[in-house]
Amino acid sequence: MQRIAVIPGDGVGKEVVPVGLEVLGALGLALEFDQFPWGCEHYGRTGRMMPEDGLKTLARYDAIYLGAIGWPSVPDHVSLWGLLLPIRKTFDQYVNLRPVRLLPGVRGPLAGRDPGEVDMLFVRENTEGEYSGAGGRVHAGAAAEVAVEVPIFTRRAIERCARYALEQARQRRRSLVSVTKSNASRYAYVLWDEVVAEVAAGFPEVRVERVHVDAMAARMVLRPETIDVVVASNLFGDILTDLGAAIQGSLGLAASANLSVDGLGPSMFEPVHGSAPDIAGRGWANPVGAVWSAALMLQHLGHLGSAKRVEAAIDEVCRQGVLTLDLGGRASTTEVQQALLAALAAPGSRPSSE
Ligand code: IPM
Ligand code: MN
Repeated sequence: MQRIAVIPGDGVGKEVVPVGLEVLGALGLALEFDQFPWGCEHYGRTGRMMPEDGLKTLARYDAIYLGAIGWPSVPDHVSLWGLLLPIRKTFDQYVNLRPVRLLPGVRGPLAGRDPGEVDMLFVRENTEGEYSGAGGRVHAGAAAEVAVEVPIFTRRAIERCARYALEQARQRRRSLVSVTKSNASRYAYVLWDEVVAEVAAGFPEVRVERVHVDAMAARMVLRPETIDVVVASNLFGDILTDLGAAIQGSLGLAASANLSVDGLGPSMFEPVHGSAPDIAGRGWANPVGAVWSAALMLQHLGHLGSAKRVEAAIDEVCRQGVLTLDLGGRASTTEVQQALLAALAAPGSRPSSE
């Protein structure tokens, strides 16, 4: 029995996570779920995003399945530093894995691109960089007020992230883009480049390119077919994967895995879209990103056949045109759920031996 901590969180997180749980429940696996009502409402009641021993509680689980964190009632930096970011850091979830794939039946914004031409895998450093949390403010409120935010780049973090990305590239199309900005940044990204090159030397079969982040943004739009695996710092990875989600056709499709690669704690799986206060509560949210994230969780937990079945069900439902509003369709969250469950029950979606 594998135990999963479920944090639906805020906004549409509470609408898409139940869909993921229905899909997971339909697979006949020995999974047990415990729900935690943490997030901005919890903050409103208690002054905390999660209980004081929340991280200790989560440490006992095999994985964390999360919806979205953030709501206008709580400043974003308070909600995120009260729940999401401490989980990523405490459990040393040092890789944030984000697949970007054009799905069949979905019209992305890039003209004339078919599925297969857009198939990238982002490996985002997930513990430091611009998200280090180091810094402070002085002269609060005065004209001379100063804010200092210090990005931290360590050899260790770059090294392990690059290694993970190169291992992925070796199993895919053997090509890696390392995203940098070592023309303007004289220290952090120069170290980044050096360490990536050192690790890459151990993977002679992988073609490694160094691309500045600005050029990378353009390349993702103009020549996405040339991109396989990408390794990027925390902030660059954050920004480029929103671009990736847009290229897929909607932020609602994008999935992510925060991987505690060395097993220091549970890994966490969450859609990229956030709580979406503008559409929350209406039953329109696209559950595909959450369901795809559940598939990444299955893969991580060793249920490879089931993970493939769920991804195939997502493809099938998109191919059928059961799409939510963000994709130009008219299906509700529940209708997508029904279509996913039907696709999983269809004869073609056989449970495989795992
Ligand atoms: C993401 C989100 C988070 C991030 C925010 C909510 C802190 O945008 O997972 O991409 O920047 O990492
Ligand atoms: Mn983001």
